[in-house]
Amino acid sequence: MIQFPQNFFWGAATSAYQVEGNNVNSDWWEWERRVGLRETSGEACRHYTLYKEDFDLARQLNHNAHRLSIEWSRIEPEEGKFCQKELDHYRDVILSLRQVNLEPIVTLHHFTNPLWFARLGGWQNKKAPEYFLHYVEKVLEVLGKDVNFWVTINEPTVYTYHGFILGIWPPNKKSLLKAKRVVDNFTVSHMRAYRLIHAVYRKKGLSSPLVGFAQHMQAFIPGNPSFPAKGGIPKSHLKSFFIRGKNKFAVYLRNRLFNFDLIEKLTRSKVLDFIGVNYYSRSLVGEGKCSEESLPLKKNSLGWDIYPQGLYNLLVRLKKYNLPVFILENGICSEDDNLRWEFIYGHLKNIHLAMKEGVRVLGYIYWSLIDNFEWDKGFGPRFGLIEVDYQNFQRKIRESAKKFALVCKTGRLD
Ligand code: GAL
Repeated sequence: MIQFPQNFFWGAATSAYQVEGNNVNSDWWEWERRVGLRETSGEACRHYTLYKEDFDLARQLNHNAHRLSIEWSRIEPEEGKFCQKELDHYRDVILSLRQVNLEPIVTLHHFTNPLWFARLGGWQNKKAPEYFLHYVEKVLEVLGKDVNFWVTINEPTVYTYHGFILGIWPPNKKSLLKAKRVVDNFTVSHMRAYRLIHAVYRKKGLSSPLVGFAQHMQAFIPGNPSFPAKGGIPKSHLKSFFIRGKNKFAVYLRNRLFNFDLIEKLTRSKVLDFIGVNYYSRSLVGEGKCSEESLPLKKNSLGWDIYPQGLYNLLVRLKKYNLPVFILENGICSEDDNLRWEFIYGHLKNIHLAMKEGVRVLGYIYWSLIDNFEWDKGFGPRFGLIEVDYQNFQRKIRESAKKFALVCKTGRLD
């Protein structure tokens, strides 16, 4: 039997663009149409009008926290013009969470931008932090006193990798130089937002909130050429020795670039109150298979390996930063709901193991509360604890959600 602490946060996450629907002033909305995306976000899950119902369901499932994001393009549909109606909307969203005793964890940027901002060059523009901070300031005026947990930016490296290296998300660039500029702008924006949030709370005499960002972390595993993929011929001893070394170095670089560099930089500058971790899978690096396992790993419906021990390994490596960690996303898309429970169970077990080793974990937020629009992949992948019928927008609680609800209620994993 495994027991989590009493004050642990339990919940699930969504992001505005993926669930709300009709975010017509966003760069993604324009992009979906321009590139002729097979499935466009459209009404998404109609969460913009159904949020109270969705929060009631989360409460029924014994959650005590909920992660959501604010859509910048709703708040500031034109440069410098802020929409009071939308600010009121999000205020009502936050108060609705409070009414059902769900602690709001609020993300300020989750992949989408206002179209006007994108047209000015978006995160490549050297004035990007200035534009972003202007929006953050407005949000703070209205929501400031009701939020204790702020997540400035969701997965800066994933955003940059998809939009500026792979070029498969807007703005479809493939340039290392641009990618570097974007990451630098995110870094500066986080730092300034961190300081601004704390300053505003201090000025208003409010108790200090916790401010962090969400880092997508992957378990990078070096391939072992003595175990060739798909029945190839094992390499000679010497050759295999060199390839193994090369693979290990590639893992080291990926760990720096995608997992740890930004966390390290922000901790050094003292602009992180907690480390937000989004964890889904592992990635084999270089030639060869992984030598550890005899059986192939189970996969989610997008083909990502299920690898819970990877989360344990990463968490233990975060210990040296001496900051609390918040699991802000961890989830699986699958048609097999038993596998969803197995996934949650396995990851919780590994989180608890890391806690026993002294990692301070504040809570566990599953991705996602409801099925939703999975970016360029459309509505196919189903990550939700709650199923959404896209014909009539009805919600149906999955069995895995009920099992998770028991853990949320008791803090116990049997
Ligand atoms: C994360 C992202 C979410 C969601 C999830 C599942 O990288 O923050 O928006 O799409 O992946 O793929």
